[in-house]
Order: sequence, then structure tokens, then C-alpha cells
Amino acid sequence: MQLEGLFIAFPVIETERLILRQFTPDDAQALFVCLSEPDVWRYSRRPVPTSLEGITHHLDTLLKRYQERTMVTWAIVLKENQHVIGKFQMEEWSDEHHHAAVGYLLGKQYWGKGYATEALRAVMAYLFEHTTVNRIDAFTWRENVASARVMEKAGMRFEGLARQRYFAKGAFRDLKTYAILREDVLDQKVAKPLFRMDDKKHWEHPGDEGSRPC
Ligand SMILES: CC(C)(COP(=O)(O)OP(=O)(O)OC[C@H]1O[C@@H](n2cnc3c(N)ncnc32)[C@H](O)[C@@H]1OP(=O)(O)O)[C@@H](O)C(=O)NCCC(=O)NCCS
Repeated sequence: MQLEGLFIAFPVIETERLILRQFTPDDAQALFVCLSEPDVWRYSRRPVPTSLEGITHHLDTLLKRYQERTMVTWAIVLKENQHVIGKFQMEEWSDEHHHAAVGYLLGKQYWGKGYATEALRAVMAYLFEHTTVNRIDAFTWRENVASARVMEKAGMRFEGLARQRYFAKGAFRDLKTYAILREDVLDQKVAKPLFRMDDKKHWEHPGDEGSRPC
């Protein structure tokens, strides 16, 4: 299907430890806990949310963006207890260019457990398997080492640095671009550890060994 098909039925994605599903209004409190930690916004131009009402409004906006077919936002949910631990977005997309751009964020207490890498791999796998996307890219401030590492571990390649792309928090910020192409996935070295389905049609995510593209 084309990327536009993602807006006909919401694409729920399951991994070993996570479920990526659509947000509901009931998720506001959990998302507020994730987003109200200042460190989460350290490498972002956006301000730290300060109220639950603000998050409720944010969830309304995300739903509207999905209905308008401009953005897909997944709640990242832990399978073991159904806690919302963050969000994952397909922020830009184009069927004309077979292109999508993604971004993600986790509550601080969930960092360092491999969840972002697991979610990124799963979304990439889903898009390459179920849509005609050819290129998926992601961007991060140069200072955001953890996010760049997630992109690398998921098999994306570093493509370049847009120097002083933003002026934010009192300084010019360099922006790193990472991307993965359909042809990279077809490359055995990348495809094997990243995109394999088990019998239950769930994506398997073996260890990180060997998943680096180069
Ligand atoms: C970026 C973010 C999503 C990473 O999530 P995560 O689940 O902790 O990521 P993972 O555990 O899958 O992988 C993180 C990797 O970065 C590494 N890392 C983290 N901080 C690091 C640092 N300061 N220096 C070097 N490596 C670092 C970790 O060791 C790990 O790599 P490894 O598996 O090789 O050890 C999370 O930190 C976050 O939500 N940050 C705030 C929002 C944000 O920056 N979003 C991305 C915007 S582009």
C-alpha cells in the first residue's frame, strides 16, 4: 500500500516488549509524566510542557493531524504492564517521493533499555514491509548522542550535518541527518538482523550485534 494507507486503519505495531498504538485521551496523564521532565527537551526547540491540560490539547492536535493525514503518532506502550512510556511519530511523508521522516521520545525513567531502538526498528520494518516507502530519515541535534546512537543501531546511515540549522537555547545548533533506504534493507548485512518475521507475524529483534550498516 501507499503511505496514505496508514490513515485508513491505524497501524498497530507489536515488538517483543512493546506495542505501538494510537493515543487515547486516557493516556494524557502518563504522557504528561513522560514529557514534563526537562531533560527530555534538552536537545529540542520546544518548551517543557507544564500542565496536564496542555497535554490533553496536544493529544487532540495529534488526533487531528492523523485525521488530516499529515502525521501518524504512536503511543509507545510497555507490553508487560501497558504503561505509556513515550511517543513515536511519522512526522512527514510523501507518496510522490516514497519518503517518510520519523522522530521519537521516551520518558526519562525508560531510557537506556533499548526501547527507542526497538521501536525504530519495528516502525521501519513495518513501513518497508507494508508500504511502498523507499527512504526513511530522522534528524537529531549534533549534541544528542543517544538519539544518533539509536539511529545507528537501527541500521540508519549518517548522511551529513546541516551546520547551524537552528538557533535554539541561545546557540546555533547543527542537525545530523540519518536515513535508511529500501535497498539498504535488501542488503543481506542489514536486512538479516533487522527485518525478520516469526511465525506469529511479529517482528523479531535479535541483539544489536551486526546491525550496524557499515
Ligand atoms: C534519545 C532517546 C529516545 C533514546 O532512547 P533509549 O531507549 O534510551 O535508547 P536505546 O536504549 O535504544 O539506545 C541508546 C543508546 O545511546 C547510548 N547513549 C545514551 N547516552 C549516551 C551518551 N551520553 N554518550 C554516548 N552514548 C550514549 C546508549 O548507551 C545506547 O547505546 P548502546 O546500546 O550502544 O549502549 C531518549 O534518550 C529520549 O527520549 N531522549 C529525549 C528525546 C529525544 O532526544 N528524542 C530524539 C530526538 S531526535
